Amino acid sequence: MFRNNSFNRGLVVWATALAALISHAEPIQFSEHVSRDVQPASFNPGDIWKDDQGVHINAHGGGVLLHNGTYYWFGEHKVAGHAGNRAQVGVHVYSSKDLTRWKDEGIALEVSADPESDIVKGCIIERPKVIYNTKTQKFVMWFHLELKGRGYDAARSGIAISDTPSGPYTYIRSIRPNAGHWPINVAAEEKDPASIERTQKENEAFSGGPTPKHAQFNILGSHFEGGQMARDMNLFVDDDGQAYHIYSSEHNSTLHISLLTEDYLDHAGTYTRNFPFRWMEAPALFKRKGKYYIVASGCTGWAPNAARSAVADSILGPWRELGNPCVGTNPQNQLGPDLTFGGQSTCVFPVMGKKDAYIAMFDLWRPDDAIDGRYVWLPVTFQEDGLQVEWRDSWNLSVFNQ
Ligand code: GAL
Repeated sequence: MFRNNSFNRGLVVWATALAALISHAEPIQFSEHVSRDVQPASFNPGDIWKDDQGVHINAHGGGVLLHNGTYYWFGEHKVAGHAGNRAQVGVHVYSSKDLTRWKDEGIALEVSADPESDIVKGCIIERPKVIYNTKTQKFVMWFHLELKGRGYDAARSGIAISDTPSGPYTYIRSIRPNAGHWPINVAAEEKDPASIERTQKENEAFSGGPTPKHAQFNILGSHFEGGQMARDMNLFVDDDGQAYHIYSSEHNSTLHISLLTEDYLDHAGTYTRNFPFRWMEAPALFKRKGKYYIVASGCTGWAPNAARSAVADSILGPWRELGNPCVGTNPQNQLGPDLTFGGQSTCVFPVMGKKDAYIAMFDLWRPDDAIDGRYVWLPVTFQEDGLQVEWRDSWNLSVFNQ
């Protein structure tokens, strides 16, 4: 093949020199975020997503906090099988500088061994979110809490606190929001004692999914004294430092948005009812160019449904629905926009150092083997009046440079 022997001899000399160079070279240094099983710097929605230990990331129903140039991803730690749908371990946290390679930082909030504790092993801890309070310099975690052995009846909010982003977090207490406070947009009939009494006599015989029955009762009023129900949830800190808790209330039929107290450890008593009887779950709230946006789901348990989106000029509303933001199909399960690629929203967050860059996070739940749940992270794009989340098999942050 080669034209002459001297060319071949030349090749041998070069190959020998190269081999010598390689054998004396320093071993390649991997950064602390890169394991031997190197995770590519791209997002591959629906695939196994390995951490720095080569283990599939275990942070479901999660949220991302950006603090001092590092991202922290908090989520539900799941175990194998159906048992993984209850909290056996706690809230897991990972850190990253580039959003694709995540370092396992361990368990941020551990379940308790004390049977008297709200967060005893076997309770339900879902959709944990963490925000940082610049005044108190504390990291504050909120999560949806269901007490052990009571299914989804308790509908409470758990609160924990830490001095450092990765924790460990100290559990403080659980509450039902805004006991003794009416929402700003309360209707006169919701204060009517007769309708409150009639609803209380129903003795909570309401399902957690859409039925026409809910609208015939006064669920808000019936929970005025004891506090409102709170299940799927998120947190949001506005530019002025005020923080908000967004939660599916009134047996999941209506989304409440509530101001938190200055220390972020309680509700401030100022809140609104939003999207009444639209059964909004999985709310992910963010702000862009002075407007507030929500991406959410309908209410069908672990099974996917069509995503929703909405916009508002004020975080407490009024909100205007924009429709399903999803576009495209997930080739792994052939599920498209009508089923959110098989997923359910959990968080939308801005990317540091990129202009107008937001990532939407979804969970592909696997309730039969909870630990196998997958993540779908996709870029959000904006039109004049709305937003879009288009499926991509693989992508990286350079999409935000375009
Ligand atoms: C979903 C909710 C999840 C979990 C699940 C339980 O609707 O978004 O966080 O609560 O129901 O069935």
